[in-house]
Amino acid sequence: MEKSRCGLFMRFLLPLFMGIFYAWVLPASDTEAPEDDKETNIPEEIDLKNGYSLLTKKFLGEGTFARVYAGKCTHSNASVAVKIIVLDEVEGNAVTTNDGAAGVKSPISISGCGAKDARKGAMREIKALRKLQEHANIVKLHAVLQFSDVMLLVMEYAHGSTLKDIMSSVGALSEDVARPIFWQIGSAIAYCHTKLIAHHDIKPANIVVDETNVKVKILDFGLCIRGIKAGKKCRNGSGTPYYSSLQVLEGKRYDPYLADVWSFGVILYETLTGEMPWWAEDYDDLVDSISTTNPKLPKTLSGKIECLITNILCKDPAKRFNMAKVLTDSWWKAGSASKNAH
Ligand SMILES: Nc1ncnc2c1ncn2[C@@H]1O[C@H](COP(=O)(O)OP(=O)(O)OP(=O)(O)O)[C@@H](O)[C@H]1O
Ligand SMILES: [Mg+2]
Repeated sequence: MEKSRCGLFMRFLLPLFMGIFYAWVLPASDTEAPEDDKETNIPEEIDLKNGYSLLTKKFLGEGTFARVYAGKCTHSNASVAVKIIVLDEVEGNAVTTNDGAAGVKSPISISGCGAKDARKGAMREIKALRKLQEHANIVKLHAVLQFSDVMLLVMEYAHGSTLKDIMSSVGALSEDVARPIFWQIGSAIAYCHTKLIAHHDIKPANIVVDETNVKVKILDFGLCIRGIKAGKKCRNGSGTPYYSSLQVLEGKRYDPYLADVWSFGVILYETLTGEMPWWAEDYDDLVDSISTTNPKLPKTLSGKIECLITNILCKDPAKRFNMAKVLTDSWWKAGSASKNAH
């Protein structure tokens, strides 16, 4: 989905630099910036007046709702990430997303959560992150600032590259390389579920992997679902279609925790094979493809992972493993996953 973000800095950073703002603090791979963020004559570093500054030349990434820049703690110099959400930005647009397979733009989006999505998403993300500060594989929230219609989330800087970028550059990963990465992803998701939070947008662009330390951070809780009791269902037509289960795509009532497990299975499949388990050019074809076909795993992969993926990408949610069960599978013990667990 293409969205115009022209003048983001014109609207936000310049007035901020000039001190025309009101802000409050609630407790709580450098890439080139997009063209439209280079238009204004802004300084390299902007003091956010709350103990953090924003580094305007250190663009970290962008999604449907936000642009993210590096920043730093003005006392310790420690790196942070600053997620800039323009609150009226997505009005009337489909809620998701530009993610398909690694490096491929999705032709499909799910619509339905129109106006005020950015504001609601920001609030959802803030509330969720405040409940999830304890887990080493979930990015931490340090502070929140609001400037009229722009919200800034000052977060832990997740070092490394997104799983999406890693797959785009190196293709599929071996089981041994993938195992510690997915152990951390799985344990973070399981932890969220114990706190009654379903992430609801598990996909490669929302996972950062520090390749040096094999340290994983889960990002982006803007579409999360909170407070659904175990075994209860909800209906929420958002998410990223290629990573969404049939029940989500069909607009049925579904268990949001088991929907996360499905998304986890899709990225596991994609990471190990370099292919999406299901792909279609339009929404109805995608639903049809998931309903009627079963993806095959290459013979080079082990029987253990084939069995685990079958239990995760099980179309009947009543028979699908939950995340706690996924983590007890024998595939994890085939390598050194536990060394990287947190
Ligand atoms: N804490 C962080 N540390 C490093 N990079 C980050 C961090 N947060 C976000 N990013 C980068 O910015 C990108 C966009 O961030 P995020 O996914 O939170 O935005 P979004 O607009 O909510 O995305 P989506 O399109 O999935 O809704 C990420 O894919 C990642 O590359
Ligand atoms: Mg994202």
